[in-house]
Amino acid sequence: MFTKIISTGSYLPNHIRSNYDLEKMVNTSNEWIITRTGIHERRISKYYENVSFMGYYAAKYAIDNLKINIQDIGMIIVATTSSDYAFPSSACQIQKKLGINDSISFDLSSACTGFIYALSIADKYIKNKIIKYALVIGSDRLSYNLNPKDRGTLILFGDGAGAVILKSSKKPGILSTHIHANGKHGNLLTMPNCLNIFNKNKYIFMLGNEIFKIAVNILTNLINETINANNININKIDWFIPHQANLRIISAIIKKLRININKVIIILDKYGNTSSASIPIALDEAVRDNRIKKNQIILLEAFGGGLTWGSILLKF
Ligand code: COA
Repeated sequence: MFTKIISTGSYLPNHIRSNYDLEKMVNTSNEWIITRTGIHERRISKYYENVSFMGYYAAKYAIDNLKINIQDIGMIIVATTSSDYAFPSSACQIQKKLGINDSISFDLSSACTGFIYALSIADKYIKNKIIKYALVIGSDRLSYNLNPKDRGTLILFGDGAGAVILKSSKKPGILSTHIHANGKHGNLLTMPNCLNIFNKNKYIFMLGNEIFKIAVNILTNLINETINANNININKIDWFIPHQANLRIISAIIKKLRININKVIIILDKYGNTSSASIPIALDEAVRDNRIKKNQIILLEAFGGGLTWGSILLKF
């Protein structure tokens, strides 16, 4: 048995924060941000556009075109680190809004790798025939955790959500999943979710330069691990969907591995780093504009705070 992605959806807030807007907030420039990150603008959520709101709409768009009984969705995972509530989880809130009566539902915290972790878990439940369908969402609004004076993080992050519906299938779908973590470098990228004597504010702290170097190495090794596990030549992969953190990280990796840039789905120019939402938003856009077609081979890969990292090779 395999797990197949049968539908995708995404939600992005309307409000755009451009590099020119950032020029008015901190000492930076449109040119610096584009050269060092590839980002032109990002979306910023309104107060009501929280993780469950954005996640619900991403899920609804994914479900809308499907002829399935939604009561057959046996699992909802929301990959997020910015839920309004620890409980009820955003997954439970979305379950309620969708009108699903009973499903395994939980939030998963694995920073920007969250969607890969969540997809990997749902895949095991489907393959083992415990559930028939799963809804996996990545939804984050890290903009609320950005220090308005910190130009190092303010320029990078944006808000959004993406979702997929998974189904068990006899035809190949998810071919392999690879998830990892190592807490050794956890201090390089942190976001408190409760304030106490150690955490005086809720802001993201990041040593960007350190993260950059580690990310390039980790992700290059991860892609090699994935293609070796599947005994597949890298040229046979139709599309690469990397986590959208910084165009220079993506460029360094594809240069090392000789991947053609035309095979890489890039959305960070429009949305910045949307954390756990970046991969499912990119997937949804490329499916909807017909770049990604049935039976193509796709490699998803991400890294994030923890540090965590992971990849998935799949036949769409
Ligand atoms: N605008 C203008 N100048 C800036 C700036 C900004 N927003 N941020 C930093 N600078 C300046 C620095 O002060 C420094 O100036 P100096 O040379 O006079 O000291 C110079 O630019 C270079 O700083 P540096 O931090 O080395 O820049 P960088 O090329 O590493 O780019 C990041 C900074 C944050 C864009 C980059 O490190 C990055 O994207 N890292 C990865 C972060 C990431 O992926 N996080 C998410 C993980 S999921």
